[in-house]
Amino acid sequence: MLLQHATWPEVETYLKTSDGIVMPIGSTEQHGPIGLIGTDALTAEIVAKGVGEATGALVAPTISVGMAQHHLAFPGSITLRPTTLIAVIRDMIASLSRAGFRRFYFINGHGGNVATVTAAFSEIYADASLAPTGNQPGLRCKLRNWWQSPAIGALSKELYGNAEGSHATPSEISLTWHAYPEAVRSAPMDPPIAPTGDFTDASDYRGRFPDGRIGANSGLASREAGKRLYETAVADIAAEYRKFLAAGQT
Ligand code: NI
Repeated sequence: MLLQHATWPEVETYLKTSDGIVMPIGSTEQHGPIGLIGTDALTAEIVAKGVGEATGALVAPTISVGMAQHHLAFPGSITLRPTTLIAVIRDMIASLSRAGFRRFYFINGHGGNVATVTAAFSEIYADASLAPTGNQPGLRCKLRNWWQSPAIGALSKELYGNAEGSHATPSEISLTWHAYPEAVRSAPMDPPIAPTGDFTDASDYRGRFPDGRIGANSGLASREAGKRLYETAVADIAAEYRKFLAAGQT
């Protein structure tokens, strides 16, 4: 169930049976000529909703804006500074933990969030360790990049091989098209497989990757692939969520 579609008595009842919650987190940033700007937030949310339906987990509101400074030379992209995103995550977890939630399972749609989310977890654990009452047990946070679950990695490789790339990938675009068929569109990909490499700030990124893609041929995306990716991701990640809840239970 979506937290936003629940009432407070329903949440109170839920907490009697589970202290876990799924936290979708993504980004609002350019995704090449045919990928939606919301791709990373939408993919995280699509998978999180599926995991919620499969496991009965509550699903928190999606953190739709992430750490995307390197995309700001493309219109429509929005970023939070790493320190801002850390503050958002800390406050959301503090709010939910006050109510009794203890296990926070983040489903992430954006590689650029990983370092910052990991730092936020370290801040949260530090808060517990440094609290005047001593070490506070029980809070556990986990980050799962949906595209890196074992089964999804294998499926993306089977579907796209080295045309998968790392930004505006055909897999992530397919997943959005599965959930939102009206989003399907096409445009020339020149070159078909985009360049790869490192980047620093937004100007540097746009200079190296002129149409926004990195290493990907977004034009291979399809709704059919999106359906397979969705079903595989939900099955794989729902199983992992159940293990996450079981781990450490006494
Ligand atoms: Ni993406």
